[in-house]
Amino acid sequence: MIRIRRYRLFLLVALLAVVTVYHLSRVPGWDGSALEGLIGFKPSTGKTTTSDAQSIPHPPPPDSTPEKETQPAADPVAAVPPAVEPHSATVSQASETSATSSISTSANSAPTITGDELLTKQPSFEEDFGEHGQGRYDVAPRPSDHPRAYWKQQTEHFPVPSESLIPLPTGEPKALPKVQYSFGRESSSKKADRLRRQTAVRESFRHAWNGYKNYSLPHDELKPLSKGVADPFNGWGATMVDSLDSLWIMGLRDEFEEAVQMVGQIDFKTSPRKDIPLFETTIRYLGGLIAAYDLSSAKYPVLLDKAVELADILMGAFDTPNRMPLTYYNWAPSYSSQPHRAGAHTVLAELGSLSVEFTRLAQITREDKYYDAIARITNALEKWQKETTLPGLWPLRVDTSGCRKPEVVRHAADTDEEPPSVVAISKAEEEAKVASDVANTGPGSRSRVRRQDPANPQAEGAPKKELVDELGGKVVPVSNEHWSGDYASVNCEPQGLSTEPHSTTHTYGIGAMADSTYEYLPKEYALLGGLNSQYKTMYLDSMNVVREQLLYRPMTEGDHDIRFVAKQSISPKATMSSKKNVTKYEGTHLGCFAGGMFALGAKLFDLPEDMHLAEKLTESCVWAYGSTAVGIMPEEFELVPCDSVTTCPWNKTRWHEALDPRREERFRAVEAYNLEQQRLSEEFVSNVGDDEDGEEPVDPAEPVSEPFVPKVPLSHEKYVAARISEERLPPGYTNIRARDYRLRPEAIESVFILYRMTGDESWREKGWTMFEAVDQATKTEIANAAIEDVTSQLMKQVDTMESFWLAETLKYYYLLFSEPDLISLDDYVLNTEAHPFKRPK
Ligand SMILES: *[C@@H]1O[C@H](CO)[C@@H](O)[C@H](O)[C@H]1NC(C)=O
Ligand SMILES: *[C@@H]1O[C@H](CO)[C@@H](O)[C@H](O)[C@H]1NC(C)=O
Ligand SMILES: *[C@@H]1O[C@H](CO)[C@@H](O)[C@H](O)[C@H]1NC(C)=O
Repeated sequence: MIRIRRYRLFLLVALLAVVTVYHLSRVPGWDGSALEGLIGFKPSTGKTTTSDAQSIPHPPPPDSTPEKETQPAADPVAAVPPAVEPHSATVSQASETSATSSISTSANSAPTITGDELLTKQPSFEEDFGEHGQGRYDVAPRPSDHPRAYWKQQTEHFPVPSESLIPLPTGEPKALPKVQYSFGRESSSKKADRLRRQTAVRESFRHAWNGYKNYSLPHDELKPLSKGVADPFNGWGATMVDSLDSLWIMGLRDEFEEAVQMVGQIDFKTSPRKDIPLFETTIRYLGGLIAAYDLSSAKYPVLLDKAVELADILMGAFDTPNRMPLTYYNWAPSYSSQPHRAGAHTVLAELGSLSVEFTRLAQITREDKYYDAIARITNALEKWQKETTLPGLWPLRVDTSGCRKPEVVRHAADTDEEPPSVVAISKAEEEAKVASDVANTGPGSRSRVRRQDPANPQAEGAPKKELVDELGGKVVPVSNEHWSGDYASVNCEPQGLSTEPHSTTHTYGIGAMADSTYEYLPKEYALLGGLNSQYKTMYLDSMNVVREQLLYRPMTEGDHDIRFVAKQSISPKATMSSKKNVTKYEGTHLGCFAGGMFALGAKLFDLPEDMHLAEKLTESCVWAYGSTAVGIMPEEFELVPCDSVTTCPWNKTRWHEALDPRREERFRAVEAYNLEQQRLSEEFVSNVGDDEDGEEPVDPAEPVSEPFVPKVPLSHEKYVAARISEERLPPGYTNIRARDYRLRPEAIESVFILYRMTGDESWREKGWTMFEAVDQATKTEIANAAIEDVTSQLMKQVDTMESFWLAETLKYYYLLFSEPDLISLDDYVLNTEAHPFKRPK
């Protein structure tokens, strides 16, 4: 019996391993060494990333299983549990919009076939379309005669009746407080200096733009070292669309016109990638198109036409019972025609940062449906805000399914294994989980989320193992939360937004995975002319918690009065009180946007104290840039928090203690060693007289045992010195979790905003120092490249150039040295990809 069980288990494990290796071998950047991370997977899944969408109950999404024999349910609508279908009785309104979205003709002569046909005829579908659930997913370009699927307008399963659409707020926009400093006249010597710097930034932009244009257009990205191309954002020309307004702002009008011509040729209805990452697409493509349209004063109608075409595709992602969006939208008709629920593990930033783009589009087109889409998210967030496990903030991951699943344990169907218990997690496991949850919400390859690969949550109770993505960020493998098996037969209870099902630890922060949800609160308030007070109260309520619980002063050499933003993990049911609330004192490049946000909030909502915080938050990033060999801030690191924000003298002993959590053990080991040495030498002395004795006979078969020499233990001092030199830790750092610089904008973004709001010229000086370091380290023959390790003077470059280098980073550097009325913050709000939208007058 036992042997049979073992045998079955072995077979199962072997099968699993084959399936996972098969899958992983197609995850970009995966190196085989991470295989161990897969142990602990639930046997029922066999996937490395969770589908964000949950099928209802389980029609076969093209990506949900490795085998694709299953066919779509004959009548998918009938399969929807009626209890959770709010609009089931209403007639679909969606088909009204279908005029703009009939099947497009292919730009080339490739045969047009439907997604369903593609699924059955093309066994390579999965390879072509890739895994989803990632902001970036690089798909190899396909030959132009390759058959394609095309997105089609679907009849909505859960339409909002037109009389229920939430309209844009009406009325006279309020006169909001002036945001920018009242700049006086500039002396001519100062102006010459400023223009010299501005020209240097512009030249850097032209250099990288030409590289992209010469080698990569119309692909998404240029590979700045190999001169290759990359298509991580559906291959619609991400860098081109993202750069449109930068070209305009920098006065590169010929290049702008040329790029606008190419925009007309984008076909958003098809893609080599099977899912559309909603957030990335909204902030980069939709934001880029709308801003270019706004800036060029509506003179290029194609920009708006394309924005509308794209937005109407994205609207398909909102067709769920509770109108929360599928953040990874499988656009192919075979899947998008099915009813779906929103995901149970949605990244907060991907949910909450769609507002300004859809609102601006609603304002321009006067179509309330775009505003309705994001207003429902705002309402849901507002309703939940005071009821989370850290009231005032939302956790980094949110169950948006609207569907409370009963607290049952899923059976591990075909194994003799015990079903994993949701309740009985051992203390040790709980501790491991809390610790790893705090650690693992760290960055992926993207965004403040955008820049954050959605690291997916893992099976309950199983210790987390990490995969490493293409830039060294962490990607956590996942169990699937598809609605299948036992879940399908259970009627779930309707619910609002919630923490992830069965989660015991909820992590809160305003950096990666959360950021722009908070950033957009004051921005949306401004964009709506102050006519919707929800955004103001949500901002004030959340920042109260951020100020009190997350902002901290780190201990620095030189006692700088600066602030970083910590992250907190709350485990309400933890048995040990020390585990109920764990704080991670980190510094992240993504978190550097916070200075700019606090500054805007301070002005709009008249919070003068927050302007001081904004300065200290921005100073922290300037400090971090200055702390490394290259002069650029690392992606992610940890520091020692001060006990008091008012006085915090540099204390090297304290820093060293923080570097060595096991120092007590080391002290004891050294003590024991010294005692042992003493004992041995005493023994030796007392043995000297017996030396003359005859030797014992030696058995030649027995190896001669070495005389026992205890190993010298590593002392605290040596350990600390080794860490500092081997890990190249600048003073005050206790860890560097990610050492790279990905051409990110957040630090210069806040420096720019602080300059425009305070008029303090020192921000320009700080910004210029940052620019010189970045420009020098990242420049390649044809463009700019990410840096692998900012603590290494070798400045090794990485073969990627994200579109935000041209869209954001260089735009902010340029605007820092421009006349203050170019993109005045009193006239525009900038989305989280630095795309300016006109504010109402
Ligand atoms: C968590 O811990 C911090 C620091 O110990 C404390 O200030 C805060 O009030 C705690 N938060 C919660 C929600 O318990
Ligand atoms: C520095 O830190 C150590 C360890 O925390 C502490 O014992 C010592 O008193 C501190 N020194 C000063 C001058 O505060
Ligand atoms: C790209 O092409 C332009 C002309 O179109 C040329 O002047 C420039 O040197 C090229 N740049 C690179 C980086 O190859």
